[in-house]
Amino acid sequence: MKRVVSALAVSLVFFAVQNVQAFNPQGGNALWGKYAIQTCRSCHKEKGLTALDPHERSREQWEDVFADDYKKLREMSHDFTAVGINDRQLENIYRYLVETSAKNASATSMATSSAAKREKPAPAAKKTTATSRQKSDKKFDMAAGDPGKGRYIFRKCLNCHKKKKVPVVSPGDRTKKAWDRFFAKDFRKIKKAMPDFDTYKYTVSQMEHLHQFLRKYALDADKPKTCE
Ligand code: HEC
Ligand code: HEC
Repeated sequence: MKRVVSALAVSLVFFAVQNVQAFNPQGGNALWGKYAIQTCRSCHKEKGLTALDPHERSREQWEDVFADDYKKLREMSHDFTAVGINDRQLENIYRYLVETSAKNASATSMATSSAAKREKPAPAAKKTTATSRQKSDKKFDMAAGDPGKGRYIFRKCLNCHKKKKVPVVSPGDRTKKAWDRFFAKDFRKIKKAMPDFDTYKYTVSQMEHLHQFLRKYALDADKPKTCE
């Protein structure tokens, strides 16, 4: 605890001095980032989003997420000032994600298991060492998922569609049955519509939430939705 407090104090001083500088991908302190990321995680957990475990992405993928002044994050529905996360903290978080995920890549099994243990504040990431791999092997359950959480995930689908000028999909475009077909057989129909789908990194749970959201507002649902 003492270490946290003094880390905070130091980071305040650091902040006061560095205030004017923009996000610096060379800066940051991984240990402070490990604390700062809890703010990210508590919102993500509430909304049923990814737990932001460093091992969810490779070092290169995290670099990509934070590239150009964390442009990708800004393009998603993130308003970091609203939750009190400043550029210095983002640097720390970035450092933490990049370094921890790189450690995993060059894994001696010791390093991996202790890292996995440390990264476990989120109940989503139970189980042991090979967490991320096991998670991605989870089988899609047609009956699971929470439509409320699916809404946020769907927004992410739309963000990219808008950006890439792909027609905007809407739950009301299709019946429940038709949506079911998109999720059947390991999302084969989605993958057919989007050859790059695997690179979008949706987890099975996210797809379950999304599936329920689409069904809830499908063409033949009580309340079909035609936009967003
Ligand atoms: C107040 C809520 C909130 C906070 C705080 C928050 N996020 Fe998010 N995050 C979201 C939402 C909502 C989405 C998905 C919706 C979207 O893409 O627009 C998301 C999506 C993401 C994604 C993409 C997820 C994926 O699997 O593709 C990443 C990466 C991410 N956030 C990182 C962070 C980091 C890092 C922080 C802390 C610096 C953070 N978020 C803080 C709400 C939040
Ligand atoms: C990172 C960008 C991106 C994300 C995220 C994304 N899409 Fe797409 N989507 C595309 C692109 C690009 C196409 C056009 C086909 C192609 O070139 O891959 C497409 C095509 C589609 C199509 C076929 C469109 C049509 O009119 O036939 C559907 C359906 C679709 N996406 C649904 C989704 C759903 C559901 C999600 C969320 C799970 C999603 N997309 C997330 C980029 C994205």
